[in-house]
Amino acid sequence: MNIELEKVSKVYRTGKDIEVKALDSVDLKIDQGDYLAVCGVSGSGKSTLLHLIGCLDLPTEGKVLLDGKNTAEMKDAERAAIRNSKIGFVFQDYALIPYRTVYENLIIPAYFSNVRRKQFGPMVDKVLDVVGMKDYLKRRVDTLSGGQKQRVAIARALMLDPDIILADEPSGALDSKNKTELIEFFKTINESGKTIIVVTHDFEMAEAAQKIITIKDGTLVL
Ligand SMILES: Nc1ncnc2c1ncn2[C@@H]1O[C@H](COP(=O)(O)OP(=O)(O)O)[C@@H](O)[C@H]1O
Ligand SMILES: [Mg+2]
Repeated sequence: MNIELEKVSKVYRTGKDIEVKALDSVDLKIDQGDYLAVCGVSGSGKSTLLHLIGCLDLPTEGKVLLDGKNTAEMKDAERAAIRNSKIGFVFQDYALIPYRTVYENLIIPAYFSNVRRKQFGPMVDKVLDVVGMKDYLKRRVDTLSGGQKQRVAIARALMLDPDIILADEPSGALDSKNKTELIEFFKTINESGKTIIVVTHDFEMAEAAQKIITIKDGTLVL
């Protein structure tokens, strides 16, 4: 899926007369298979950018085009379908259910789409293989280390074979060995043709990407 942002702005209204301009007229083109790192200090608009690309939110002004289609003009169901099956999200806090097993966590995206139950097993095996965690199927998530949880979160993002992986500060809670592994996974996943967009403070994570962009106060700086 090709991504294009045309003069995208996002204003949050937090109170009656209180407005925060999180993004300010951003132009950006990302082709299928690109590997992009998004850098910038806290509060610069990085997460907002990911949320708009991932159809989690809509811009206040401008257009977010996915394969040429304006996300603001799609029906809710169409945006939900893209979010569920074309895009895989990886969050810093993993967003896993701690008291459930790895298997139970991984099947959630499949459960909410039209996948047949008998396919769940093979799909789970495949994504756990990518992150080297085949033996952890039945483990409760709260018994895993931080690095293992992050790997499960990546596996979950891959479940429905998305075009795009969006990762928001995925290395934030990882030690350097796990971070190096994470970089390797992203490289492998990118080599399989998927687009990767990773928000990061980390120099090594950013260096692994093909292209680095920096956001400052909601605008792209070159
Ligand atoms: N849901 C929200 N409501 C109000 N303000 C928000 C919301 N999300 C983000 N902001 C504000 O928008 C700006 C950009 O936030 P964000 O995109 O989260 O930045 P980053 O991910 O780079 O830290 C910040 O000033 C932040 O406080
Ligand atoms: Mg953020």
